Amino acid sequence: MTTVEVDAAVAAAARESLRRAGLGPTVVTGDGYGGHLPGAPYDRVIATCGMREIPYAWVEQTAPGGIVVAPWGTRYGNGDAVARLVVEDGVASGRFTRLVRRAAVRHGDYVSQEGADGADASTTTVTEAEFHTGRYTQYGPRRLWDEVEAAFRWWTGRGKPGVERFGLTVDAGGQYVWLDDPAASWGI
Ligand SMILES: C[S@@+](CC[C@H](N)C(=O)[O-])C[C@H]1O[C@@H](n2cnc3c(N)ncnc32)[C@H](O)[C@@H]1O
Repeated sequence: MTTVEVDAAVAAAARESLRRAGLGPTVVTGDGYGGHLPGAPYDRVIATCGMREIPYAWVEQTAPGGIVVAPWGTRYGNGDAVARLVVEDGVASGRFTRLVRRAAVRHGDYVSQEGADGADASTTTVTEAEFHTGRYTQYGPRRLWDEVEAAFRWWTGRGKPGVERFGLTVDAGGQYVWLDDPAASWGI
């Protein structure tokens, strides 16, 4: 078993915790993006940091039938979903299982008691729907709001599919997202 951590302090803490727990995986301090060839092939590759791209090196270093699990998202937001990909014939493919659960942040986590005590509390009557209705001004070579609307209509037109209906395929040429059917994918 091998684990890769880029932050030397976190890697050192992991080494110590693992030793105390009686576990002895190889702890590599470095960039996990390239995997870790000396330990390959792996039956399972599990990422615990958000990915925008699944590196092909991971596919190459996974045994046939092996599984890659990683929180994955686009560059347009931070709402990642868990990708579960099965590797066969140099291609990793599979669906998203669910959205990544984010730790609940409470008001008191970032506002001191002193600040909270002196604050005025009120309730707004502005709804989210009202907030998003209005005029938009677009500049530059792309009409981004038009693209957002088109993407929203595409999504609503397909019954507002949840992440479980989407999947990801990674091959030597890049990564592709699909809805329902891996054969109908688009690059990202
Ligand atoms: C959410 S924390 C998870 C920490 C720990 N692995 C765990 O599961 O509890 C994400 C970790 O990924 C590490 N990380 C981010 N990018 C990395 C990379 N390219 N290679 C290796 N580690 C990376 C960060 O330093 C951070 O410690």
